[in-house]
Amino acid sequence: MSQFDTCPSRRGTGSYKWDQHDDDVLPMWVADMDFQSPEPVIRALRERVEHGVFGYTMAPPDLKAILVERMARLYQWQISEEEIVFVPGVVLGFNLAIQALLQPGEGVLIQPPVYGPFLYTAAHAGGETHEAPLQIGSDGQYFADPAAFRAAIQANTRAFLLCNPHNPSGRAFRRDELQAMADACLERDLHIVSDEIHCDLVFRGHRHIPIASLSPEIAARTVTVMAPSKTFNIAGLGASFMIVQDEALRKRIQQAGRGIVAHIDLLAYTAMRAAYAEGQPWLDELLVYLEENRDITTRFVNEELPGCSLALNDATYLAWIDCRSAGIGSGDDPQKFFLEQAKVTLNPGSFFGSGGEGFVRFNFGCPRSQLEEALQRMKTALAVNSLR
Ligand SMILES: Cc1ncc(COP(=O)(O)O)c(C=O)c1O
Repeated sequence: MSQFDTCPSRRGTGSYKWDQHDDDVLPMWVADMDFQSPEPVIRALRERVEHGVFGYTMAPPDLKAILVERMARLYQWQISEEEIVFVPGVVLGFNLAIQALLQPGEGVLIQPPVYGPFLYTAAHAGGETHEAPLQIGSDGQYFADPAAFRAAIQANTRAFLLCNPHNPSGRAFRRDELQAMADACLERDLHIVSDEIHCDLVFRGHRHIPIASLSPEIAARTVTVMAPSKTFNIAGLGASFMIVQDEALRKRIQQAGRGIVAHIDLLAYTAMRAAYAEGQPWLDELLVYLEENRDITTRFVNEELPGCSLALNDATYLAWIDCRSAGIGSGDDPQKFFLEQAKVTLNPGSFFGSGGEGFVRFNFGCPRSQLEEALQRMKTALAVNSLR
């Protein structure tokens, strides 16, 4: 029995994932997990709340040092404390970076299908979106073709917005793939804004490589955004940070947020510090559990859901299921089908832009009994549909 086999009910807790549906629906969509956070995080929050005074705050004094040590230990990436900027959310962080980098009419390169907010980041800054779609290999895995990536860079493309590990494909890009992207950005003088929120959720046989860690030249043009929110399941607290190694770029970004971007709050700081300082044993166990969930999901989808297919994730608890041959329609029909016929909520492919049609995203960050129930419901709905 694992600590992750059971978790408290989230219904009626203001959960975005659970509280928008009837009780007979299993929510397997929004990217948070159903597990309780590590015990040291809960303890630190409880102690802080019991103090009872919640005035203006600042980062815990050792938090930056913890992050500097973490980057060196996990990624052999040498950063210094002044390069860290705390922000109350990763979407906010990459939008802020793009706002600081882009002039109206300039372009931002993205790799769809990709996490929905990437699709609108350029427009928020008065710019345009340029696309270098990921491609699907014969093994079903997505990859970034270097020639197609270069060809997608236009004369007015100013920045590349990377998602690594990539949501929804579940890829943790290899060093050679990242190097090819980075080389193209260097050649064409693009800045890189890299959303690495899923960096800790990488399975055996793969590793996370921050693109900024490739070389000092690349670091000088990169903004990296990370957070403990996915890793330790504290997404509702809005604890995140950017690493901006170039001083002028950092100042520009800080200036763009002045008076607009809120400080991160004291419970977010409390949870972030406890998670990074004391959460590793919990994370080690979580990764074992998630990897089994990944294997169960992949096997089940490929063997038991006729017409559906799924490649093995390198990273993340998000499975990107191809339903195009399942006979349940195109576009977002598969999402509607599983909601109406299986009572399982998934993210529709269109949320991830072009290339998402006919796909759904399935979140396996939950207890195994819930995972198995959701998969069985999907299997039954497809079987009933095939008899029609
Ligand atoms: C790639 C990616 N970036 C950012 C976020 C959201 O980050 P935040 O809630 O900190 O804005 C998510 C959540 O699913 C995500 O998958």
